[in-house]
Amino acid sequence: MDTAPSYPYDFIDEVLFTQEQIEQRVSDIGAQITNDYRDSEKLLLLGLLRGSVMFVTDLMRKVHHPLTMDFMSVSSYAGNVSTGFIRIDSDHKTNINGWDVILIDDIVDSGYTIYTIHKLLVDRKPKSLKVCALLDKVDQHKVDINIDYLGFEIPDDFVVGYGLDIDEKGRNLPYIASVNLEKYYAKKV
Ligand code: IMP
Ligand code: MG
Repeated sequence: MDTAPSYPYDFIDEVLFTQEQIEQRVSDIGAQITNDYRDSEKLLLLGLLRGSVMFVTDLMRKVHHPLTMDFMSVSSYAGNVSTGFIRIDSDHKTNINGWDVILIDDIVDSGYTIYTIHKLLVDRKPKSLKVCALLDKVDQHKVDINIDYLGFEIPDDFVVGYGLDIDEKGRNLPYIASVNLEKYYAKKV
């Protein structure tokens, strides 16, 4: 009998975090945020589209404090390669002046995205600004950034699932899995 797990994409290598592990970690971060912002009068979760959508919508249900949700759409990647140039495709709507802002992304790799957007947001004078990321490829950082709330550290694998994609594929997987890039690119050519 074939007991190998079957995945909807044949380029999936292995599951790094199951749905249950993600749920638990998101719950923990939500509890931390609930506690840290208990005195906040204007709390804004600001997610970076599109990768952070699942994370933000799950996380906000675990924060037991009034909050507002907003998004910016930014891009820097083509396939699995960071272009280093961060393009803002659409900006947030809230005037963040005076708000306690938590900038949220799915994953930090080189750190350029968080570094660039953080710098931009500081100029808009929020009351406070913190960074939250579900995943961090800590050995890949090329700029100095601080992540205040982190889900998991991962090695330098390319991953998909729970909002993360490769060329728009894999976002709807409920777990996070590594991609076999050789298989992925072999299929493409
Ligand atoms: P950075 O600017 O190099 O830190 O890259 C961060 C952005 O690249 C994230 O917002 C993701 O959209 C994307 N990214 C980086 N690594 C991965 C990955 O392994 N899978 C999917 N997207 C990734
Ligand atoms: Mg992204």
